[in-house]
Amino acid sequence: MSFSFNEDHLNAYMHMLPRYPHPKALLLPCLWMVQYQEGYISAGAMKYLSKLLDIPQAHIYGVVSFYTMFNLEKRPPFHIQVCKTLSCELCGKDEIIKSIEEEVGIKVGEATELFKLSEVECLGACSGAPMLCINEEYYENLTPKNIKELLQRLAK
Ligand code: FES
Repeated sequence: MSFSFNEDHLNAYMHMLPRYPHPKALLLPCLWMVQYQEGYISAGAMKYLSKLLDIPQAHIYGVVSFYTMFNLEKRPPFHIQVCKTLSCELCGKDEIIKSIEEEVGIKVGEATELFKLSEVECLGACSGAPMLCINEEYYENLTPKNIKELLQRLAK
């Protein structure tokens, strides 16, 4: 499947280009723009970026598969990413996961039409542990009760 940036993203790319020493340095912002445009990073998009940025497709795949914020396939509207690192682990991450599993009916790594549930490394909001991210929105100081209420609001 072929891919190309829409006009807005192409303009944003052209605007950023002179500020970087080499187009390769624009890989992460370009991946974000692909994900905003398509919802995930397709093989066609990696091929497009490979030519645009002069980077081998295998390198792009390595970057996309390394970072949990990039999706290699289409995902449901709400991607729940629960932090599993030390502060969140010590502050009750397991209870939060259990509540989500009960409310949505899926385990970590699974998805419904509405939700996908993942565990990720530290999201940089340790003072709000336990926390999670749904798409790009952070939710902190979670309890089994407030996470269930949040999921019920999103499901409406
Ligand atoms: S340990 Fe969870 S946000 Fe840092």
